[in-house]
Amino acid sequence: MNSFLYKIKILLLRILGYEKPLRVALLKYLSLKFTNFRPHYETLIYEASKSSIKLGYSEINVIELGVAGGDGIKSLIKYKKKIEKVLKIRINIIGFDTGSGLPKTMDKKDLPFFWKQGDYTNKNLKDLEKESDNVKIYQGNISSTIDQFISENQHKIGLIIFDLDLYSSTKLFLNKIPNLSEKNFLLPRTFCYFDDLFVADYFLDNTNGEPLAITEFNNEFKDIKLGKSFDHINDFKFPLAKGQIYTLHDLNNADYDKYIGIYDSDSLSGHNKDKFRSILDD
Ligand SMILES: C[S@@+](CC[C@H](N)C(=O)[O-])C[C@H]1O[C@@H](n2cnc3c(N)ncnc32)[C@H](O)[C@@H]1O
Repeated sequence: MNSFLYKIKILLLRILGYEKPLRVALLKYLSLKFTNFRPHYETLIYEASKSSIKLGYSEINVIELGVAGGDGIKSLIKYKKKIEKVLKIRINIIGFDTGSGLPKTMDKKDLPFFWKQGDYTNKNLKDLEKESDNVKIYQGNISSTIDQFISENQHKIGLIIFDLDLYSSTKLFLNKIPNLSEKNFLLPRTFCYFDDLFVADYFLDNTNGEPLAITEFNNEFKDIKLGKSFDHINDFKFPLAKGQIYTLHDLNNADYDKYIGIYDSDSLSGHNKDKFRSILDD
């Protein structure tokens, strides 16, 4: 068997053994082929916007940690424009990146055998600010730019997209979350998306990378928690982001108990004829 046929055989085995419906693989393939097609980013901003509106906020920040060439920021801009038309909300897009790619690391928990210094350099990082109104890029290591952001910020953060690859960089940002809470910049429950919880090569796991940074965060902080929903067959909200969404619970947030539930008081009572919400509102 030549090497091409052998690769086809391995691919077929993997397709047959793949647990998810193949349409999920198709969606993933499309998102890799068209870098600005990110159904998870779109649904995340949409849900973050709906939650913010329910809580009474008409302007929010969406943060992408790790911008690289800017495909993520461009897709966020595309979706923000659509959502601003559909919902009464203003969305600011904020990116953080060194511009010079991944920083040097000696920490084994950063997987230096997989990610190396200088990967994803973008010399024109700041040009992304010209793509649309309300886009701000903090260029530099987040160890310093996060404090600059904290001193300048004016709006609630509705969504944080973590894509810094490294354990150490993720931890740098997570360690600043109590400051964001003290300044009242967080929603009571802020959506967080973690891009680097899984790589198909299997060496990224609970002992390193983003997963370890999350575990340590939850061990270190009492009143702020990163919670992950249980995997459930009824879950449909965030295509391609299954298992990657966490809720940042800011338990001391003044709005934490504010009711934003979806059920009317008599929605389950026998006399309510209008029991079912439109699936479009879910
Ligand atoms: C995988 S790339 C981001 C890709 C981007 N989110 C996208 O979807 O196109 C990771 C980025 O994180 C940035 N990064 C990692 N650690 C950082 C740190 N401590 N400060 C600033 N940027 C950092 C790197 O420069 C790199 O561009």
